[in-house]
Amino acid sequence: MSHLPVPSRASAPVGAHDLAADVRSFYHLPEGEHAGKACQGTACYAARHLNPERWAEAMRQDPRVYCLGECHAAPAKGQTQPRPPVRVCSRHGIVLGRLAAGGARSLADYQRQGGYAALAQALDHPPERVLAAVETSALRGRGGAGFPTGRKWRAVAQQPAGVKYVVANADEGDAGAYIDRYLLEDDPHRLIEGMILAGYAVGASQGYLYLRIEYPFAATVLRAALAEARAAGWLGPQVGGRPFAFELELVIGHGSYVCGEETALLRSIEGRRPEVMARPPYPTERGLFDRPTLLNNVETLVNVPWIVTHGGEAYAAIGFSKSRGTKALSLNSLFVRPGLYEVEFGVTVRHIVEELGGGLRSGGQLKGLLIGGPIIGLIPPHLLDTPLGFEELAAIGAGVGHGGIVAFDEHTSIPDLVQHVFSFGAYESCGKCTPCRRGSGRVEELFRRALAGQAAPADLQECRDLVTALKLTSLCGHGTGLARFAESILRYYPTEIEPCFK
Ligand SMILES: Cc1cc2nc3c(=O)[nH]c(=O)nc-3n(C[C@H](O)[C@H](O)[C@H](O)COP(=O)(O)O)c2cc1C
Repeated sequence: MSHLPVPSRASAPVGAHDLAADVRSFYHLPEGEHAGKACQGTACYAARHLNPERWAEAMRQDPRVYCLGECHAAPAKGQTQPRPPVRVCSRHGIVLGRLAAGGARSLADYQRQGGYAALAQALDHPPERVLAAVETSALRGRGGAGFPTGRKWRAVAQQPAGVKYVVANADEGDAGAYIDRYLLEDDPHRLIEGMILAGYAVGASQGYLYLRIEYPFAATVLRAALAEARAAGWLGPQVGGRPFAFELELVIGHGSYVCGEETALLRSIEGRRPEVMARPPYPTERGLFDRPTLLNNVETLVNVPWIVTHGGEAYAAIGFSKSRGTKALSLNSLFVRPGLYEVEFGVTVRHIVEELGGGLRSGGQLKGLLIGGPIIGLIPPHLLDTPLGFEELAAIGAGVGHGGIVAFDEHTSIPDLVQHVFSFGAYESCGKCTPCRRGSGRVEELFRRALAGQAAPADLQECRDLVTALKLTSLCGHGTGLARFAESILRYYPTEIEPCFK
């Protein structure tokens, strides 16, 4: 496979000076000024009573910082926290196994532990073999939507030969999630190997790794890992000495949550104002620079070397129902044992909360649980026996999301949580569609009024109508996710909501 010409990026957001004025104005952190700031994300909100001064500081800050990936030590303030404990609670440590054993930051350590062997093996066979293994594995996207990975790869591979791209989504903006952060910091070459395998499978010779600016140490590690991989010939015109070219570039975001959404992310890489785009066309047909693009989450790609080495069948044999393989989870600081856990799909949420997390610290009473970020359904305590699975959690209005788990205790009142989530939603809305741009802020305002004891029943009806509009007419998962969160609250916590609108 020859090296394909790649159009150059117009003005990608790699530094403040690269951004045109209308693009700069979109971002919360065009200068990257998040360092040392207190976090206002949902995991820090849940733990605000543990350090009220820090929370007050976070609430005063402008621009706001929503999640630093330190949710195990929340409330957090951009500083070096102790690393979270890592536990593999499955027969197979596919995702976190290497982290649990101390990690492999350097190429030498990674190769000593069998790294790049999957790629070397794959390059001796046609790309179809990698593609078929990923299809057989039944792997589904770990970035939130759970879309079948093999189907996405096949869609890109089937596009006519020409310039195609592979993009890794390392934006990890969902508060409570810090899985990708530690995969990037402690096992960077596995993502690189997964991306090269993806490029080989779909016929792409250029990849981009889109990393959020809130993870500066991950950026340092990735730059070093990319240089090492290039020097060793795993990147470049002849990957592993074979006739296949692949290059990989790191692009740093600027503190926008919505840039984790795939169409916004691709526009951000292009250096354009990163507003969400309507689909179709999907990125698999017309993505980055209008070319077929494969975009996957970090954890999704990290599974690929294991699948190539062990075969798709071995992966599909793990897990449960339509959710195969293992899932990494991150538990917030309200648990007795916060940290990173790898489990097989099918364990119950109760097992995660009580057996792994050890329940809530200081004997706290569980009020509810968010799995996968703030824009997803809240799980009430009476549904803890639901198994961890895409369909099973969707059936109760929740989801697997990205696997970040935030527990709330008795210090959180549900109307206050709604106001927090919609405040976040309004702040991070890209503004492209009206229900999200206007509706999220209006729901926040109505709940603010309710919390001040100034709301009437008609205000609650207005909230319901706005939630319906968000659900039916939003352009992307940001608006529909906010609706999903609100619906779960109205369904499971009516006795906490209705008295506020009297
Ligand atoms: C508002 C919003 C934010 C998102 N943030 C992320 C993110 O931080 N990381 C991620 O992998 N996916 C995120 N997603 C999902 C992506 O759009 C996309 O579905 C995913 O990256 C695809 O990869 P996967 O198939 O491997 O999961 C977000 C979606 C929405 C609507």
